[in-house]
Amino acid sequence: MALWPHAGGAAPLAGNPQAGQAAFKLCASCHQVGPRARGGFGPQLTGVIGRKAASTGDYHYSEAMQKSGIVWSEERLAAFMRDPDRVVPGTRMRFWGISDEQKIADLLAYLKASAQ
Ligand code: HEC
Repeated sequence: MALWPHAGGAAPLAGNPQAGQAAFKLCASCHQVGPRARGGFGPQLTGVIGRKAASTGDYHYSEAMQKSGIVWSEERLAAFMRDPDRVVPGTRMRFWGISDEQKIADLLAYLKASAQ
């Protein structure tokens, strides 16, 4: 978990959006995605790839997220899924992290497909 093997590189594996939709159950207790998604316990994630961090209007982010200056590229998002607190120290997202790289690639493919 301490390793960060693909920092700076693109996700090395091809993602499968259908598998990513299934894997999104790891996120769905806190996040919504899709055309009618809204902020809930966590911000909505529709079109999150390419989006500036802390930029949805209906969610109150932590100061850490507001000041992060991040744009959610695939690489950044993959790193955040591996270890949220390492990418945004002090984030309110309490999430263990995913170490399965295939799952991360699938989730990225799903989120990319859910751009609106
Ligand atoms: C236990 C609840 C919870 C789970 C599970 C969770 N998140 Fe989060 N997430 C949050 C919270 C709360 C925030 C807001 C963090 C902040 O403001 O510091 C957040 C923020 C985010 C952001 C930043 C969004 C933005 O608008 O800047 C992304 C991206 C994200 N989560 C992705 C995911 C993904 C992908 C998963 C599943 C792999 C996931 N999260 C699982 C609670 C969760």
